[in-house]
Amino acid sequence: MLETLKPQPADKILTLIQMQKDDPRDGKIDLGVGVYKDATGLTPVMRAVKAAEKRLWEVEVTKTYTGLAGEPAFNAAMVGMILGDGYADRAASVATPGGTGAIRQALELIRMASPQARVWLSNPTWPNHPSIIKYLGMGMAEYRYFDADTRGIDFEGLMADLAGVAAGDAVLLHGCCHNPTGANLDAGQWAQVADLLASRGAIPFMDLAYQGFGDGLEEDAAATRMIAARFPEVLIAASCSKNFGIYRERTGVLIALTSPDRKATVQGNLAFLNRQNYSFPPDHGARLVTMILEDDALRADWQAELEEVRQNMLTLRQALADELRRATNSDRYDFIAHHRGMFSRLGLTEAQVEVLRVDHGIYMVSDSRINIAGLNARTVPILAAAIAKVAG
Ligand code: LMR
Repeated sequence: MLETLKPQPADKILTLIQMQKDDPRDGKIDLGVGVYKDATGLTPVMRAVKAAEKRLWEVEVTKTYTGLAGEPAFNAAMVGMILGDGYADRAASVATPGGTGAIRQALELIRMASPQARVWLSNPTWPNHPSIIKYLGMGMAEYRYFDADTRGIDFEGLMADLAGVAAGDAVLLHGCCHNPTGANLDAGQWAQVADLLASRGAIPFMDLAYQGFGDGLEEDAAATRMIAARFPEVLIAASCSKNFGIYRERTGVLIALTSPDRKATVQGNLAFLNRQNYSFPPDHGARLVTMILEDDALRADWQAELEEVRQNMLTLRQALADELRRATNSDRYDFIAHHRGMFSRLGLTEAQVEVLRVDHGIYMVSDSRINIAGLNARTVPILAAAIAKVAG
C-alpha cells in the first residue's frame, strides 16, 4: 500500500530551518521561520510562562482528560482577550493544537456546514492556508492584497476582487500583522471591507496569530472586534504561539460567533470535530495561558514583556529602514518602518534571495519575506549592505 505514496512538496518556510542549520558559516543570518528571537538569537521562555509553569507544577494533582473543547476557563479567557466582554452568549469555542489546528478545524466546520462554500485568501498569504484548503478538497479563490511597487496594500484590487464573493463564501482575513507582507489595512479600509463583505453575505474568517506584535495587544484586536460586532457569523482562529512564546506547546483557540439560539449546536459540532481529529486538545500551554490571563500580576508581567518584544521589533524596523536609506541612497525601503508585525516582504526576486543565501549566508523565504526579529543591532547593517549589493 505505502508504495503508492508520492513525495509531498516541501514546505518552503520549514525547509529553511534545516538549510540554515546545515550551513556551517559563522556569520549566517536566519530571517526565515516566524519565531521571535532576542538580540542573542534565543527564543526565550517568557517570564510569566516560567512563573506559571512553576506554580502549575506545585498545584497540579492530575493529568486526566479535560473536556473535548478544552478547559472552559481557557476558552473564556481567550474570547475575553480577543473580543473583550459581551460575547458569552454568541461565542462557541474550542481549544486547538496551535493556530494551525484552529484554522484546520474552522475549515472543516465550513466544509461540514456548507460544502460548496469557497474560501477566499489574500494574495499572498501564509502558504499553509491554501495547502490545507487544497488538502481538504475545498473551493478556493484569491483576492489581490499587496502592491509589489509600493509594498503597501493594493486596496483597489482587493475591493474589486472581493466584490466577486458569493453569499456564504468565507473570506480569510489576517486580523493584524499580515503574513507574509507586513502590510496592513488601516481602520478606514477595514470598515470598507466590512461593508463590502456584509453586502455580499460573506462569512469573515479571522486569522489572529500575532496579536500584540503589531500596534499593541488591544490595537491588534480592533479589526477582529469591529467585524465581530457587525456580522452575525464570524470564525476566529487564534494562536498563542507567538504572543506567549509557547510555540511547541501547540496552543490555540477556534471561536465561532453565531446567534445565541444556535450556539449549543455549533459548540457541539466543534467538540465533535475535535473528537474526530485528535480527541482532546493539548492542555499544558492552554493552562499556562489561562493562569496568566486570570492572575493580575502574571498578566501585567506578560503584557510588559510582550510590549518589550513589540518595541524591539519596531526599533529593528526603523534601524533597517534607516540603514537601507544610507546603503541605497534612496527611500525605497522606507516601507519596512511602516509595516507591522514580524514580517516584511522586501520585493526581491527569487534569484536575488538565492544570491543572499549562497553568497552572504542570509536566509529568508523565497518570496523575500524576512522575519524582522531574526535581526539585531550588529546584523542590520550587514543585511542592508547585502541587499544594496544584490538589489541596488
Ligand atoms: C511562519 O509563517 O513562519 C510561522 O507561522 C511558522 C509556520 O508554521 O510557518
